[in-house]
Amino acid sequence: MKRRWKVLGGLGALALAGVGVLAGVLSHRAACPAPPPPAEGTTMQAWMARCYGAPDVLTFETLPVPVLADDRVLVRVRASAGNPLDWHGMRGEPRIMRLSSGIGAPEDPRFGTDFAGVVEAVGPKVSGFAPGDRVFGVAPGAFAQYVVVNPARMAKIPDGIDFAQAAAVPVAAVTALQALRDHGGLRAGQRVLVNGASGGVGTYAVQIAKAMGAEVSAVCSTRNVDLVRSLGADRVFDYTKEDFTASGERWDLIVDTVSNHGVFDLARVIADDGALVVVGSKDDEAFLGPARRFLVALLADPFVAPRLEGMLAEVRDGDLAYLSGLMAEGRLRSAIDRTFPLSAVDEAIGYLETGRARGKVVIEVP
Ligand SMILES: NC(=O)c1ccc[n+]([C@@H]2O[C@H](COP(=O)([O-])OP(=O)(O)OC[C@H]3O[C@@H](n4cnc5c(N)ncnc54)[C@H](OP(=O)(O)O)[C@@H]3O)[C@@H](O)[C@H]2O)c1
Repeated sequence: MKRRWKVLGGLGALALAGVGVLAGVLSHRAACPAPPPPAEGTTMQAWMARCYGAPDVLTFETLPVPVLADDRVLVRVRASAGNPLDWHGMRGEPRIMRLSSGIGAPEDPRFGTDFAGVVEAVGPKVSGFAPGDRVFGVAPGAFAQYVVVNPARMAKIPDGIDFAQAAAVPVAAVTALQALRDHGGLRAGQRVLVNGASGGVGTYAVQIAKAMGAEVSAVCSTRNVDLVRSLGADRVFDYTKEDFTASGERWDLIVDTVSNHGVFDLARVIADDGALVVVGSKDDEAFLGPARRFLVALLADPFVAPRLEGMLAEVRDGDLAYLSGLMAEGRLRSAIDRTFPLSAVDEAIGYLETGRARGKVVIEVP
């Protein structure tokens, strides 16, 4: 055998062995540690995810109120909301995410992301917020009575909007906004289709697209048709009766939170200068999960006219203020499916994991 082939064969075997080792390392699941004894002094109730697994690994603990840093804000949480990212983080799945969340067990056990509440204290380097302000945003550990927040990741709640409405917004609505505006480049007058329109992201995507002046088609099941129409969709496809890829219609943008159609089937119904933005997928493959769909979009993109891309949302300066403005104008509301007390976050996450929530699942914090 030529030396070149031997070297290539050796490199291939090494790469395969590397993938095998990585898969083994990422599959490792550390045993759940016993939660610490209840803290004393100024305490709060908070949920923690100290190991990976089903909702029963979550622990409801009595912990010290978090310490405020100079450039942070301490918020008394009044409501939180669940997102698929919470149960992905709880399970450490897809396992590829453990490269950043922690091998074997979560590096940061604080649980929850979306919150709304009242500013309790403000670090000396923070401007623009004061104790008593009603705010909403994202912070690690939002399934708790107090949370320490980076002020760039929060905004004020408009008058007349309650904590539950505001808490539901951050992750899901920022994702919808970035999918439509930043990745989709949506302009007024264009036609957009939202697949998965009755979910957390979809219910906001329909409303934000309408607020941007688009003509909106929405895809959901029979029981959610009225909800999605009430959010402003111009055309609703009930996917149990009608396949939008076979309707003969075309769109400038498809925002896909479900990924239950082939990317080439989707590309066929998108204008040549349009785009498919992949937000999520129901793919529960253990290692890559929804990321497989991002890869498929990336690989298929050179072969079709429309742009195909996956996206990962990140709350950025200005996004929450923009959404707050839409709420104030009455153009964005949260479709809240169920509300759970803080003590039942494990139950709420189990419900979210069914993939059947209509809009948002909210946690009321005492
Ligand atoms: N890329 C990012 O940065 C990012 C950010 C946030 C979320 N995500 C991902 O986006 C996806 C959606 O998130 P979400 O918060 O909207 O989830 P969700 O609220 O759990 O979505 C539930 C909704 O999905 C709908 N659904 C299920 N199968 C469907 C189908 N075949 N066709 C149309 N709709 C269907 C359900 O409606 P029916 O019961 O009527 O079928 C339900 O209303 C998840 O995969 C999530 O991980 C990604």
